[in-house]
Amino acid sequence: MARLVGTAADVCGRVPGLFPALAGSFLRGIRIMAVELYNDGRHVCLAFYDLVDEEADHAVQCNQFLIVDGDHGALIDPGGNMTYNGLLMGMQRYFPSRNLDYILASHADPDIIASLNKWMVTTRCRVLISKLWARFLPHFTTGRDYSDRIIGIPDEGMVVPLGESKIKAVPAHFMHSEGNFQFYDPVAKILFTGDMGASLIDHDVALKPVTNFDEHIPFMIGFHRRYMISNKICRFWVNMVRQLDVEMIVPQHGARFEGKVMVNRFLDWIENLQCGVDIMTQDNYRAP
Ligand SMILES: [Fe+2]
Ligand SMILES: [Fe+2]
Repeated sequence: MARLVGTAADVCGRVPGLFPALAGSFLRGIRIMAVELYNDGRHVCLAFYDLVDEEADHAVQCNQFLIVDGDHGALIDPGGNMTYNGLLMGMQRYFPSRNLDYILASHADPDIIASLNKWMVTTRCRVLISKLWARFLPHFTTGRDYSDRIIGIPDEGMVVPLGESKIKAVPAHFMHSEGNFQFYDPVAKILFTGDMGASLIDHDVALKPVTNFDEHIPFMIGFHRRYMISNKICRFWVNMVRQLDVEMIVPQHGARFEGKVMVNRFLDWIENLQCGVDIMTQDNYRAP
C-alpha cells in the first residue's frame, strides 16, 4: 500500500499543484526518503522515518508526517531541533513550507514539538495542541507572543479543515500525556497515533510496515507497559478506534500497522495489555 518515494519528478508528476522538487534532499550526506502512505493525486500523506541519526545523535528514532490537500498542508509531530533541517528540506519536494497551515502536535514532548520556534519564525502556521499544553508551548520559543497562533484543542477533540479535507483531532488522553490527541485522516483512513503503537527500532526497519505482529511485540511491550497509563484507558481508546474506518495505524516511533487485519491485531493486543498504574506496586516507590 505505502511506498518509498524515490524522485521528486515521480511525486510531482502525479500530484497537481504541488511545489516543484528541491532536487535530491540530503542531510549529513544521507538521502532523505519520504514514504508515501497515501496519494490520490490531490490528497497526500507522507512519512519521514530517517531524519534522526540514532547513532550519531544518541536519540530515539522518531517519525514526522506531512499531510497535503491541494495547496494546503499540515505537519504532524514535526519533532525537535535535530529533525528540523531534514524535514524542512524533505517537505519542499512536496509542499512549500512557507504555505504551511498547521502543526498538529499530539502532545508537548521534545521529540514532538521542540522545534516549534523555528517553524514559527519561518512559516505563518498555527499550532494545534491540547489546551492543557497551549500555555506551556511558549517555553519552546524565544518569548515572542505567539498566542494568536497557538490553538488549544478542547478535551473532546475537534475537526480541523485542511483544504477540502477535514482532519479529526481525536482524544487520546493519558496515552501517554495527560492532554493527548491523535489525528485521523478520513480521506486516507490513517490514524496518526503519536506514541501509541510505538516500537523502538532503527529507522531502516521502521520505514517498513509490520509484517509479523508476534515478532514485533518485543519491540513495543516495554515501552507500552511503562509509558501507557492503564488498561482501562487503552480499552476506552480501542472502543473509539473500532468506530472509525482505519486502514493504517501510524505511530510516531517505529513501524506502522497497515491493513485492517494488522490494525485489529494491534487493537486486540493493546486492549488486553496491563500497563502503567496496573502493574505498579509499593516496590516501585521506595527511596533509593
Ligand atoms: Fe511522548
Ligand atoms: Fe514520542
